Amino acid sequence: MTDRWLVELADNLKQRDIDAQRRRLVIAQPYQPAGSSGPMIRVAIDGQPRDLINLAGNDYLAIANHPHLVQAAHQAADAYGIGSGASRLVSGHLPIHAEAESRFAAFKQAAHSHAHHVDQHNPKCGKVSANAHGNTTINMKANVKGNAGENMCGGAGGVGWAGDNVGGLLCPTGYMANLAVLTSLAGPGDLVCMDKLNHASLLDAARASGATLRIYPHRDTRKLQRLLHRHPDARRRFIVTDSVFSMDGTIADLPTLADLADEHDAILIIDEAHATGVLGKTGTGLAELQGVAHRIDVSVSTASKALGGLGGIITAPPVVIDTIINHGRSFIYTTGAMPIQAATLIAALDVVRDEPWRRERVNALAHRVRQALADRQKTTHDIDGHQTENMESVGVNMEVSVGGNVGKNVGGNVGGGIVPWVVGGAQQAIDLSRLLVDHGFYAPAIRPPTVAPNAARVRLSLRADLTDTMVDRLISIIKSEA
Ligand SMILES: Cc1ncc(COP(=O)(O)O)c(C=O)c1O
Repeated sequence: MTDRWLVELADNLKQRDIDAQRRRLVIAQPYQPAGSSGPMIRVAIDGQPRDLINLAGNDYLAIANHPHLVQAAHQAADAYGIGSGASRLVSGHLPIHAEAESRFAAFKQAAHSHAHHVDQHNPKCGKVSANAHGNTTINMKANVKGNAGENMCGGAGGVGWAGDNVGGLLCPTGYMANLAVLTSLAGPGDLVCMDKLNHASLLDAARASGATLRIYPHRDTRKLQRLLHRHPDARRRFIVTDSVFSMDGTIADLPTLADLADEHDAILIIDEAHATGVLGKTGTGLAELQGVAHRIDVSVSTASKALGGLGGIITAPPVVIDTIINHGRSFIYTTGAMPIQAATLIAALDVVRDEPWRRERVNALAHRVRQALADRQKTTHDIDGHQTENMESVGVNMEVSVGGNVGKNVGGNVGGGIVPWVVGGAQQAIDLSRLLVDHGFYAPAIRPPTVAPNAARVRLSLRADLTDTMVDRLISIIKSEA
């Protein structure tokens, strides 16, 4: 190791300090105090622990400490121990993985069936038929195993020891799931088009795939159309998008993307990380909310956000899942997810089904906060130069109708529990985050390169267990800082 090398590294970090872009680990512990229903977090501020209201995580449904999940984790640890012991392809494919994949595929599949009542004649869906129970099922041409009646997501039943591919695949994290999807499905000679604000894992995955990568401006489907037109010779075309964008809380226009995919014979891959559990009548995500679940080719979800645990789950036709099992290096060459990940995923799906109030509440709270920020920015105009994107981020363009069914309070452009308070410069974002600490809230600053230069922000993450008083206080800060 040369001294010069260490000096270069230190200089780079110093420059980050100067640019207010230095990243540091901060010790934090989310908790819920006895007798109080609000979420708190103990976090080191200037080296000292502070107890603050938690607006910093992705546990939108507030179920990371739900007794049902905690019990499931205990039971799985008792039954299986801690590690899965090997790659899934060696001896790490445990019955609990198979059960979780089957449950998750069934969860997603239910949204497909629902959507078919709306749109029964979409060419992507194969033949639609009703089974003996009157449920709609789809016979996919792509199903190479030829299991009669197996549906697009591979069926809903338990799999036991049969080892069938159920149309769902659990990876240790969402990042690894995205990497596995794109590196196994796309390659040199293919075209991957993705939204500029897609999550870093999708960008990294597309780069690693070796495909030609083209980025279109955020939500700009016209530009996307031009890109698709311009590459008629690509072997395959992929459209890849976040459904809810992780730093902006904006949402993709999935029906238009599905139309473009049909028109250009493209494959539509969506990342529902921030929508799973939060959006849609049954909580499966934005595709359900927009009525196009059956038109999505590959969907990636995470257990690590609203589902309170850890893990990435891919749902797709069985032949696609088999391809990922055979070619997805980030699936093959890593140890299988821990059994408690699979068990808590199953438990989280129970909670999503049984406690819909959680997604209703987080959507309603996010709507209130977005509205307050939109009102504030109408009066201050403090984000000149990034007006379009930022105004959209805080929901100025939203067509909102609050109340009633889950997901109905989602505007035209925004949805889910993420609400960015965009301020511009990195230092301004740090100052705003500090001001919130002074008022008893914890919401970290998000700075370049995670977001565009001059679009630094504080990312407010709403949770179902925030009390009305907490949210009222937050809104009064937003108003008074105008
Ligand atoms: C849109 C999106 N996709 C994927 C991921 C990665 O998920 P995980 O944290 O499970 O690796 C994240 C979260 O960081 C995300 O925001």
